[in-house]
Amino acid sequence: LILVVDFGGQYNQLIARRVRENNVYCEIVPYTKSLEEIKAKNPKGIIFTGGPNSVYGENTPQIDEAIFELGVPILGICYGAQLMSHKLGGKVSSADREYGKADIELNTNSPLFEGITETQCWMSHTDYIEVAPTGFDIIGKTNKCPVAAIGNDEKKLYGVQFHPEVEHTLFGKQLITNFIFNVCNLKGDWSMSSFAEEKIKEIKELVGDKKVLLALSGGVDSSVVAMLVHKAIGKNLTCVFVDHGLLRKDEGDQVEEIFGKQFDLNLIRVNAKERFLGKLKGVSDPEQKRKIIGEEFVRVFEEESEKLGKMDFLAQGTIYPDVVESGTDTSAKIKTHHNTALPEDMAFELLEPLRELFKDEVRAVGEELGIPHHLVWRQPFPGPGLGIRVLGEVTEDKLHIVREADAILREEIALNGLEGSIWQYFACLPGIKSVGVMGDERTYAHAVGIRAVTSSDAMTSEWSRIPYEVLDTISRRIVNEVEGVNRILYDITSKPPSTIEWE
Ligand code: XMP
Repeated sequence: LILVVDFGGQYNQLIARRVRENNVYCEIVPYTKSLEEIKAKNPKGIIFTGGPNSVYGENTPQIDEAIFELGVPILGICYGAQLMSHKLGGKVSSADREYGKADIELNTNSPLFEGITETQCWMSHTDYIEVAPTGFDIIGKTNKCPVAAIGNDEKKLYGVQFHPEVEHTLFGKQLITNFIFNVCNLKGDWSMSSFAEEKIKEIKELVGDKKVLLALSGGVDSSVVAMLVHKAIGKNLTCVFVDHGLLRKDEGDQVEEIFGKQFDLNLIRVNAKERFLGKLKGVSDPEQKRKIIGEEFVRVFEEESEKLGKMDFLAQGTIYPDVVESGTDTSAKIKTHHNTALPEDMAFELLEPLRELFKDEVRAVGEELGIPHHLVWRQPFPGPGLGIRVLGEVTEDKLHIVREADAILREEIALNGLEGSIWQYFACLPGIKSVGVMGDERTYAHAVGIRAVTSSDAMTSEWSRIPYEVLDTISRRIVNEVEGVNRILYDITSKPPSTIEWE
């Protein structure tokens, strides 16, 4: 086990991911865990994450210094490295904010950097280590950062100012692999099949002969939960699929066909379009829309549950990025993901077996469970659906436009064989109208936004370079075939600083 101690950085879950990619189990715990609790987990290595604070600030996250004496290897990242330096007698100072790519000179004699030839790393910090603690060597430096990496081989303590967990640090994966195998001497024998087996056993024990209601959206996450729970408790699982009127073209019927007919699941489809659109009327704030949709979902489930007789658990396809991006004790809130925007007076116990997993891990579990490949590899679709792709107030007319434009986009991506190379692609309606000319007539109509991104986990993403000819076809087809549209925009921002969805 590698324990990641969370000091509030936005990329923390990526660290866990990088560790698990090496088939080593990894858990994240808040920095507030006591030394005893940390020791009880018997970690073979510890990673301190970054965080938004300064080690000198008031009430900033601290750690019991005795942790450095446990004999367990520690890798500190950014704030984690500064904290390590500060606690062990080094000096941390404030400078101008450094953000972005930087070239680093590494000492490849260090076990942490063995075999690394790349030099590009990713910086995001204000404070920096000015003087390394006694007993530590400086093992990396950049132009702006004279102490960009430190190491004490004897005590197996290391600190890096940059972020090895993000893809822009070209040698980041290698660094984490080195830490796990060279420094912590771990083996790498954890796998997704063991995860599935353990979860099924866990669910069986937890649920017993009680009843579970599953919020099935037809997306990857909830489908995998459905199969996990189904394998654990069979017919005591009932799946409720809420068609909130915010789905993509033909999606409702497809979900019903696959899960209700092809798989042997109890499936109830609830058509609730009027209800959701009624609640969303006049609402244009993105966070409020997300809350309304999330809450309405649960209300619908509660009602269905009442009809079904007592249901004890509500199972959901919440995955790790949903949990983290909705704000944890230590990280800042970016947006309320619908799965976590639950009302407090909810009448169910929650069952969220994928809560610790990343998307690609969920997919691996899906394959393990025998879910068809094309379903496992479906692109992600957010719970609030088109409700957050129509920016501002949601109306049926706008939904129609975005739905049709999206169907054309998806069709063209498939026709051009690009499905496998783009992580997620969709149309959205920014709510801007502009002037155009069609058939000698002036038009004043909507602009449609096209978003296409590559990513491996949705935590960061790059915009996809869809070939111009394909974009051209998509643009022509949408403007010609979807009434009320006279302009197409292509989103060329990465995440960060944008997010994938526009709301
Ligand atoms: P953002 O927009 O935060 O999205 O960069 C990251 C990924 O999450 C999806 N997403 C959601 N998924 N419920 C979900 O199940 C939600 O409320 C939600 N909001 C965003 C988004 O499509 C992208 O894949």
